[in-house]
Amino acid sequence: MSTISTNTGGLSNEAKKKIICEAIDDISHIATLPEITVKIIELVESPDSTAHDLHMVIANDPALSARVLKVVNSAFYALPGQIGSINRAIVLLGLNAVKNIAIAASLAKLFRGGRLCPSFSAPDLWEHSLGVAAGVRLLADKISLNLPDEAFLSGLIHDIGIMVEMQARRAKLVKVFEQLNAKADGGLTFRQAELQVFGVTHEELGFALCTQWKFPKFLAHVAGYHHRPLQLEGDSQLIVSLVHVADVLAARHGVGYTGTVDRPEFDEGVTDVLKLTAEQLSEVEQELPAAVEVAAQLMSS
Ligand SMILES: [Fe+2]
Ligand SMILES: [Fe+2]
Repeated sequence: MSTISTNTGGLSNEAKKKIICEAIDDISHIATLPEITVKIIELVESPDSTAHDLHMVIANDPALSARVLKVVNSAFYALPGQIGSINRAIVLLGLNAVKNIAIAASLAKLFRGGRLCPSFSAPDLWEHSLGVAAGVRLLADKISLNLPDEAFLSGLIHDIGIMVEMQARRAKLVKVFEQLNAKADGGLTFRQAELQVFGVTHEELGFALCTQWKFPKFLAHVAGYHHRPLQLEGDSQLIVSLVHVADVLAARHGVGYTGTVDRPEFDEGVTDVLKLTAEQLSEVEQELPAAVEVAAQLMSS
């Protein structure tokens, strides 16, 4: 299994790898990606697949078909008229967009579950993820990055490593929150508490899960580097930086669970990478609450 390294925490890479592999192995028994999503990812990654193949797969799953049409007909796309068929949706949006919508539609299920402890529940994290998704989409639009579905999905998925902890290492995650509560003065960050309890962070676990599930590479990078985008080089840095900024904005606005964001400022240099002006940022902050509402409606079942 491929893993990433962090420059914090005292464990050897071998020891970390073992912790990550065991957690990912355990979560595979608890939560699997729906078979249909696996099929769609494979289909779109395959160079020979056609819109017809994708249509056949989605049309066989009424719940997913309904979800895709709901997304396509939402305010996000502002398409002329009501789109009533999956075929039409694929023609209008393209294979890739429909793939991303299908992955997004499968994710909500993973975030189900009750309250873990007084300070954390899976629905709180889902709300945070929706807030970040809405924020990344707005930010992508500001910098004219024409990838609205990738942007949205990046936000939804960024903290998926915490779901690995919640589903596969429940008792230990409770300990993380106990440690954070004991140092409520802010002397301990979420990732420092994770390192103390698990020996690894949700970034490392998220990266491993996305890799295991064969999600597109940029999503693994988002899950693995959103707290430190400048440590990542290459094509994904831009979208990971957008997620970093949206994560901080969502926390500033108190959208869902906000405890994983260490501080209310962006990592130094990130806004330069994005060429985001202060004016654009304040526009996004203003537009965020309404966008979060649209996102929540869109993803509600
Ligand atoms: Fe995070
Ligand atoms: Fe987050």
